[in-house]
Order: sequence, then C-alpha cells, then structure tokens
Amino acid sequence: MIYQNLITEVKEHLLYITINREKSLNALNRSVLSELATVIDFAKHADEVRGVIITGAGEKAFVAGADIKEFADYDGKKGEELARDGQQKVFNAIENSPKPFIAAINGFALGGGLELAMACHIRIASENAKLGLPEVTLGLIPGYGGTQRLTQLVGKGRAIEMITTANMITAVQAEKFGLVNYVVAQTDLIGKAEEILNFVKQRAPLAVAAAIRAVIASVNEVDGYKVEVESFGKCFETSDFKEGVVAFLEKRKPQFVGK
Ligand code: HXC
Repeated sequence: MIYQNLITEVKEHLLYITINREKSLNALNRSVLSELATVIDFAKHADEVRGVIITGAGEKAFVAGADIKEFADYDGKKGEELARDGQQKVFNAIENSPKPFIAAINGFALGGGLELAMACHIRIASENAKLGLPEVTLGLIPGYGGTQRLTQLVGKGRAIEMITTANMITAVQAEKFGLVNYVVAQTDLIGKAEEILNFVKQRAPLAVAAAIRAVIASVNEVDGYKVEVESFGKCFETSDFKEGVVAFLEKRKPQFVGK
C-alpha cells in the first residue's frame, strides 16, 4: 500500500510507521488520520506483524498536534465529529490493537501528537523530546482522549497542571512522571523500541493480545471519553477559540476574553 503521508515497512515481524509531514512538524491533518486508520487496521489483521513502532519524520517533531490550519472553518458539530471519529478509528483502535504499539517520540509530542503517543501501549522518548497538551492556548481542550489517558498515566494533579498551564515538559520529567518508559539518545530510539518488541515477538501472540486487552480494560472510563468529545465540540462555539487559531496562524499571542 502506498501512502501520501506515511512511510511504512514490515521487517522481521515489526511494522514501522513514520508520519511524514516534516515541514508541518508531522501535524495530523485529515489525510494522515485516514491513512493511520488504514494502516492500524492492516496491523491488526496481518499475521506477519507482531508489533508496531510509530514515529515522526525528521529530528524535530514526533507530531506537533492536530493540523490547526484545518480548524479555521470548524463549528461545534464538526469539532465533535472530528474528535469522535479520530478517537474511534485511530486512537482507540491503537489502544485496542492486539499487537503492541510503541511510540518512538523523536521530538515535540504536542496536543494530538501526545494523545497519539499516549494511545500507544509503550512510549520511549529521545532526549530532545518535549511533551505537552497546549490545546487551551487555542481555546480548546484535548479531544483525542488526552484528558483521560494523561490522567491515567500521570495522575489527576499532574494532568490538570499540564493541561491547564499548557506548558511542555522535558523527556526526563516525562520519565519521572511515568509518561514515558525510557529516555534515550535520538539515534538509539528505534533500537530501544526494537529491543522491547523483540522480547514480545518470542511470546505467545494470543496471550500478548489478551494481556493488552485486560490491562486496557482496567483503566478505561468510557464515559470520560464521551464528556471529552462533547466538551471539545463546545469549545468551537467560543470566540476565544477563533481568536486562538487566528493568533497561531498570525504568529502572535492570543487575547482571550472568556467568551
Ligand atoms: C499545523 C503546524 C502545527 C500544527 C506546527 N506547524 N505545528 N501546522 N498544525 N499543530 C507548522 C507551523 O505553522 C510552521 O509552518 C511549521 O510547522 C514549523 O513550526 P514553527 O512554529 O515555525 O516551529 P517552532 O517555532 O520551532 O515551534 C515549534 C512548536 C510550534 C512549538 C511545536 O510549532 C507550535 O506551538 N505548534 C502548535 C502546537 C499545538 O498547539 N498543538 C496542538 C494543536 S490542537 P510554516 O508554514 O509557518 O512554516 C490539537 C487538538 C487535538 O492537537 C484534538 C483534536 C480532536
């Protein structure tokens, strides 16, 4: 299968996915999301695939979030659809995959980018990585499961601090918080992911799938995801959201008024 925005390869039972929009810091536009949905489905059904490594092209970003340029004409309904559709076809599909996904975080993992990494089963970060959920700087909240998965991974206090301040944390802080499993040099990132999956490959595939299913079942609060989707959609009805997006595009600080 040929993709416009992804580079994919299956090698020694591992599927490698690189999100390839380096000039936009690998931001998730509709096309990337649709291609990710296809390749995630492929991974689920392909017997030759025993694990997946997902990373971003270049040395600067894993994924800098949803593509803000596509938000310009969004209203509440479209926003809610974007979040619900993305959660089901990409983010929940990864989390519910019977094969382990490892996010190899090679730089910025922001907004939808961190949400993508958090949907994966294991995260490894390179030393230069910066992680955060900056949606409130745009008058939005995370919409791809971030409010739920960040809370599960780092606890309520740290999640609320990260989401409401919108501040990024370093890879080392992320490791301390339990948000990433390991921090390694950028050149060792894929090697570390392979080292882990090479163990998984030797184990019983059905047991691996059952273990993932059981662990995920222990942490999922389905209602929380619904609240997130509805709240995300409502943000698009505010004038602060419009100001947030325009300010980003005009490369200036937003002036929020609370409406
Ligand atoms: C679209 C993006 C982008 C994004 C970066 N770019 N992030 N385009 N969507 N999320 C583009 C920039 O516009 C720019 O394009 C190019 O990538 C390089 O980025 P710069 O800003 O010039 O780089 P730098 O100054 O180094 O800053 C890096 C950065 C910054 C700190 C990562 O780009 C940034 O703050 N990006 C936005 C991060 C963000 O807010 N993400 C959350 C999005 S909302 P040009 O054409 O100018 O060269 C979200 C919601 C998810 O993710 C839920 C949905 C349901």
